[in-house]
Amino acid sequence: MTFEQWMRSVLDRVEGALEQYLPAESTEPATLHQAMRYAVLGGGKRVRPLLCHAAGELTGAKAECLDAASAALEMIHVYSLVHDDMPCMDDDELRRGKPTVHVKYDEPTALLVGDALQSQAFVALTSDVLAPAQQAALVRELALASGSIGMAGGQAIDLASVGHTLTRAQLETMHRLKTGALLRAAVRMGALTGETPDAKTLQALDAYSAAVGLAFQVVDDILDVTTDSATLGKTAGKDAKDGKPTYVSIIGLDASRALAAQLRSDAHDALASFGARAQRLAELADLVVNRVS
Ligand code: IPE
Ligand code: IPE
Ligand code: MG
Ligand code: MG
Ligand code: MG
Repeated sequence: MTFEQWMRSVLDRVEGALEQYLPAESTEPATLHQAMRYAVLGGGKRVRPLLCHAAGELTGAKAECLDAASAALEMIHVYSLVHDDMPCMDDDELRRGKPTVHVKYDEPTALLVGDALQSQAFVALTSDVLAPAQQAALVRELALASGSIGMAGGQAIDLASVGHTLTRAQLETMHRLKTGALLRAAVRMGALTGETPDAKTLQALDAYSAAVGLAFQVVDDILDVTTDSATLGKTAGKDAKDGKPTYVSIIGLDASRALAAQLRSDAHDALASFGARAQRLAELADLVVNRVS
């Protein structure tokens, strides 16, 4: 199977799982459920589900178990995007090529879409396709990665940093939390869904995720200045306009590109001991760094 064929098959599965784990549009309160589905379905690169599936294949996880974990990861991610776009945060009007949730609906709905997606993620993760012990382990991974010492913490640092010059170390910490933590969780959750990985395996996967997670946000910062809104599906040039500290604003475009390339190579090195079994993870590291949106 080529990488494209593998991606297509995972993306189809994940779309089906999201459809299945989200309440139907007609379920009351219907507007909230419509807005949740508007935010989640039919858009986005689904990088976290892809990482989860790739890591799970490495430990022999069942695809339907990975689907539940992937749906949970994507719901948390979309919740973070919906809130990130609200006027009290980045105040963005375009996401995944469509009006943001607070523009299409209203601000209270956007707030509740985020809240409800966060809860629904844990509903998906505790579905009975996963054994109880697995559920508990995965819930803990996802909760830690999305809370105050993960994504939400990173978002707090991001908002507090507007208009300030961060040191490179502070910037790296912010990126590792706001974006890296959930990507790392995607890999760990995939791996934990299969045969219990040994410490060495988890360590190698953590080294991989550290590189891919940071690379992902470095590339996001680069694309904000190099790519147009139509390609991105979100408003380009927004970071500079808002005075956000980014890799581009702190080390410049060329150094940011060099860093992304270095992190890609670090990600490949981290996978060395797995050989061909980690092919999909290696290909995903390339995708994260070479993507155009
Ligand atoms: C955007 O994430 C927000 C960041 C964490 C940088 P993605 O680039 O994964 O967004 P989608 O899911 O493809 O829309
Ligand atoms: C957001 O980072 C990371 C999240 C946790 C959502 P950004 O604010 O840079 O994401 P975009 O550029 O709006 O997608
Ligand atoms: Mg933001
Ligand atoms: Mg934003
Ligand atoms: Mg950005």
